[in-house]
Amino acid sequence: MSTPKRDTAAEQLSEFAKNHEESEDTITTTWGVPLPEKDASLTVGYHGPILLQDYNLIDELAHFTRERIPERVVHAKGAGAFGYFEVTHDITRYTAAKVFSEVNKKTPIAVRFSQVAGELGYPDTIRDIRGFAIKFYTEDGIWDLVGNNAPIFFIKDCALFPSFIHVVKRNPVTHMRPDYDMFWDMVTLRPETTHTCLMFFSDRGIPANYRQMHGYGTNTFAFVNAHGEFFYCKFHYRSEQGIATLPPKDAQRIAGEDPDFHTRDLYNAIEKGNYPSWKFYVQIMTPEQAANNSYDPFDDTKVWLKADFPLIPVGRFVLNKNPKNYFAEIEQIGFDPAHLIPGIEPSPDRMLQGRLFAYGDTHRYRLGVNHLQLPVNSPFKANNFSRDGKGTLNNSAGAPNYHPNSFNGPKIDSRAKALSPVIPLKGDAKRIDSGDDDNFTQARLLYQRVMKEDERVRMVENMVTWLKPTTTILQERAIVMFSNVDDDLGRRLRAGLDTIQQINL
Ligand code: HEM
Repeated sequence: MSTPKRDTAAEQLSEFAKNHEESEDTITTTWGVPLPEKDASLTVGYHGPILLQDYNLIDELAHFTRERIPERVVHAKGAGAFGYFEVTHDITRYTAAKVFSEVNKKTPIAVRFSQVAGELGYPDTIRDIRGFAIKFYTEDGIWDLVGNNAPIFFIKDCALFPSFIHVVKRNPVTHMRPDYDMFWDMVTLRPETTHTCLMFFSDRGIPANYRQMHGYGTNTFAFVNAHGEFFYCKFHYRSEQGIATLPPKDAQRIAGEDPDFHTRDLYNAIEKGNYPSWKFYVQIMTPEQAANNSYDPFDDTKVWLKADFPLIPVGRFVLNKNPKNYFAEIEQIGFDPAHLIPGIEPSPDRMLQGRLFAYGDTHRYRLGVNHLQLPVNSPFKANNFSRDGKGTLNNSAGAPNYHPNSFNGPKIDSRAKALSPVIPLKGDAKRIDSGDDDNFTQARLLYQRVMKEDERVRMVENMVTWLKPTTTILQERAIVMFSNVDDDLGRRLRAGLDTIQQINL
């Protein structure tokens, strides 16, 4: 067995030292000029002021004060790694996407795990949904599958996303989080949150690490095959390490002892050659099935029941490489659900529709207009008519920057054109609040049929922990909401809160 590597500078920097024993590298300025002195600024005498002409000093200070970029507005704390996706089963009857074109085909990938609500320095082991985003570097360009570790989400219309994020972030007056009043107020006013709340407060709300979590595309997507046939689909990735979660007390202790617990675990596992892997599956629904399904297949607060839409095996992915520069490769990675490739399409899922706009927009703000030219975000080739702007690296090899042109500029792709679906749309344009569209049937299935008794007990304890700091009115509203899942759940919550009140008296 190889010596376990450590995640500290001693290990990482001694490797550098070993590789540079004979090095004759000299320090240079950022513009490459050899530096005569590093330990002293240029002053007039011993106590004199520093001269403006110490330009290297000014350059370094100016670079330092610009070291941070805005953190992600959500999913700020995370960790990532690189690896490959391999096709194990033929699904070309459903999609012509090149990434799935033949069994054994491998595609390089990048993955970023994250938590939703905390900031960049937040402890890893808090109760939250975890992000699980995959970037596929395919022959047909970048495909970003920006998923979570839950198959469903709290709300179903992107119009409510900013509000939902506000209630899990800091209270703008007190600057504290979690703010239990904001959370329970919104959650109980939108009972569509019930199903995801059950998952959020279950054991899965605090994963033991990023390697032992399943992942899901969460939103509904679509496939188009080589004959132009159209299918709706959901993506699932199942951990080959199994699932592991942390008891809340341990999670709390670890949050204090090692806030980067999940980040450290992922980095060290990969350094030691213990490469995490996941099996990749799809669920498929035909447009006819979608039209006649008993629940809305484009509602991301609902799962597609596996009994009706079984998991179809597709492939497997492995993470076998750590980033060499966290900032360059993970902080600057930008995932975008609108980055789809021929053979994969969006669906009318209202959350996905909002996401198609939001990610590119936030990247242009967070990373700049040319973020897709950064190596970690860049496709293998990109020929288009966009030019210039901050951070430009490429110029499409000097091709014409206008279309049409008479100088052999890039042409449209007939295969991509053939795969563009014809989408029949009908209906009156109006705002339809879908918030009361059967919010409890699937939550009931989860509570009554899927959860075991000990899991129910722990979930109620976790809910009570979050309910006890809020007001009696909101506690009562939550009890009513969860009683719609099962009277027994409502009773248990009331009993849990009563016990706490008695202890406090
Ligand atoms: C309308 C609804 C949504 C909006 C507007 C939205 C917006 C955003 C934004 C602005 C970011 C930060 C991106 C960055 O700065 O790099 C983000 C990150 C993320 N979102 Fe969403 N989001 C929505 C719903 C969802 C849903 C339903 C999921 C579930 C799969 C999800 C999963 C993620 C993940 C995993 C990341 C982190 C990506 C990374 O690792 O860089 N989001 N989202």
